Amino acid sequence: MLRSLVLFVHIASSMGLFAALGIEGASLLQLRRASEPARLEAALSGYRWVRPVGGAGMMGTILSGAYLASTAWGWRTAWIDVALGGVVLLAVMGGTMTGLRIARLQKGVRDGTVGLPGLPARDPVLWLSFRTRVAILIGILFLMATKPGWQGSFVAMAVAVAAGLLASLADFQGRGAPVTSEGKGAAR
Ligand code: HEM
Repeated sequence: MLRSLVLFVHIASSMGLFAALGIEGASLLQLRRASEPARLEAALSGYRWVRPVGGAGMMGTILSGAYLASTAWGWRTAWIDVALGGVVLLAVMGGTMTGLRIARLQKGVRDGTVGLPGLPARDPVLWLSFRTRVAILIGILFLMATKPGWQGSFVAMAVAVAAGLLASLADFQGRGAPVTSEGKGAAR
């Protein structure tokens, strides 16, 4: 009974990760459409939910997953270990490629240093990070549902990361400008 309860918590927590990515995706779309600082500020306000929802989801997923792994499967299980690697990649990409940039944008809006045109909100790195994390999370879900061996687990995760990177290539072909340390986009 306890294992089923923990599995329930595990799956429910992992839905929190999907919800946090959903909120981030909606905010990114708003960010992309923002044509003036006021709309940029409104779009950025959506991010205030991403960290608490994503953080709680991540904590719940990892702790319950760790319990299930320790009590039922063992830590030398391919799909669990590769999934754990995927979770670390999710957290690092989310914190560095997205978290730091959004913090710079928020500071730029507060300080009024975010300049128009060439609005930095169309930053391709924000989209690369978002798409790749969505792909990684779907890849982890695939591992959890199909439980492959080492080769299958690594191939599944590699395919997920590659899909996220490929889906973001177009954004780097001159349609956007990375956020610089001053919070401004490079003038085109
Ligand atoms: C972050 C993304 C994750 C998602 C979306 C996720 C989702 C799931 C789902 C849907 C299941 C049920 C699969 C089934 O019944 O066949 C499951 C099972 C499991 N997950 Fe995860 N999981 C994630 C991360 C993790 C992590 C990081 C660990 C290990 C630390 C883990 C360990 C497990 C274990 C051991 C089971 C098997 C439970 C059992 O039937 O005994 N999961 N996961």
